[in-house]
Amino acid sequence: MKSILDIDIKNKIILLRSSLNVSIKNNKITNDFKLKKSIPTIKYLIKNKCKIIICGHIGRPDKDKNKYSCKIIKTRLEKLIGKKIQFCNNFKEIKTKLNKGNILLLENLRFNKGEINNNKDFSKKLSQLAEIFVQDSYETIHRKHASIIGIPKFIPTYAGLLLNEEYNIIKNSLQKIKKPYTLILGGGKSDKLDIIKYNKNKIDNILIGGGNANRLIDSKKKINHKIILPVDFIYDKENKRRDIGKESIELFCKLLKKSKTIIWCGPMGVFENKKFENGTKKIAQFISKLKSIKIIGGGESSNAIIKYKLQNKMTHVSTGGGATLELLKNKIPPGINAIIKSQKN
Ligand code: 3PG
Repeated sequence: MKSILDIDIKNKIILLRSSLNVSIKNNKITNDFKLKKSIPTIKYLIKNKCKIIICGHIGRPDKDKNKYSCKIIKTRLEKLIGKKIQFCNNFKEIKTKLNKGNILLLENLRFNKGEINNNKDFSKKLSQLAEIFVQDSYETIHRKHASIIGIPKFIPTYAGLLLNEEYNIIKNSLQKIKKPYTLILGGGKSDKLDIIKYNKNKIDNILIGGGNANRLIDSKKKINHKIILPVDFIYDKENKRRDIGKESIELFCKLLKKSKTIIWCGPMGVFENKKFENGTKKIAQFISKLKSIKIIGGGESSNAIIKYKLQNKMTHVSTGGGATLELLKNKIPPGINAIIKSQKN
């Protein structure tokens, strides 16, 4: 897979698919880890005097479109790159707005059904905006969306700096996996649990926390002996499980101590709230002292590691949770395949 470092990109019009997926609460950005990681590619393109159309997604905007508008990141992005950018939510205005300035931010791609459905016309329309497509969103590289697998069918596509770095680091680390090998699955996204059936033979322990622990406990399904569920919890006023308890932390740490490879995707509880951060904090601190391979994946887990200032103690802190889990399945993600195919043509 070639990246923007392998081609002459000077003065080109670039459509850039970035990792814009910030966390938002009460109309404020609460986590911009992914956005910050997207900046080196944007700066590289600016240095090469490119006209840049930045696109991406925030959240899963089924209903609440206002909440997930990319407008929310405009000022933060301007600050991070030190340049003014134009915002555009309408295809017709793109060319005029791009002529006014050199950097344009498009509205959340997921506002258009064509993105998630990988609609051919939507991909084509986007591809017609630029000469080159730069894919820099490692966090969505496992999705079969228009901006991941659709656009590369129409224009030459290259990996951005973030995607290139993340993909290579994680792929290489996974090739060197040492046993015992432990996967920690937390957070709320239920599609993560899918990994369990793929890796039963390779993984020694799967420690489950966060919303996924609730999900498995409540489903009352019989589970594989490698899956370790929490044994106690911290509850909120409504008696909902919000964090793992002390005994669970001890149990998890015992298994982690013996592990030579640890992949962690998703926090153990609602760590943003002080009352429910102990599980995530204690596990993060414990892992940070181990000499094993330690890969942390996804926006929330990465944010927790940064909150506790442990990022330099980990092998790699990744922008992608689901994407990293997909790599654990030993598969080439659809987005990487799309780039490779585009470069063969
Ligand atoms: C993530 O947050 O893991 C990525 O942005 C992918 O988001 P998705 O699971 O909504 O596709």
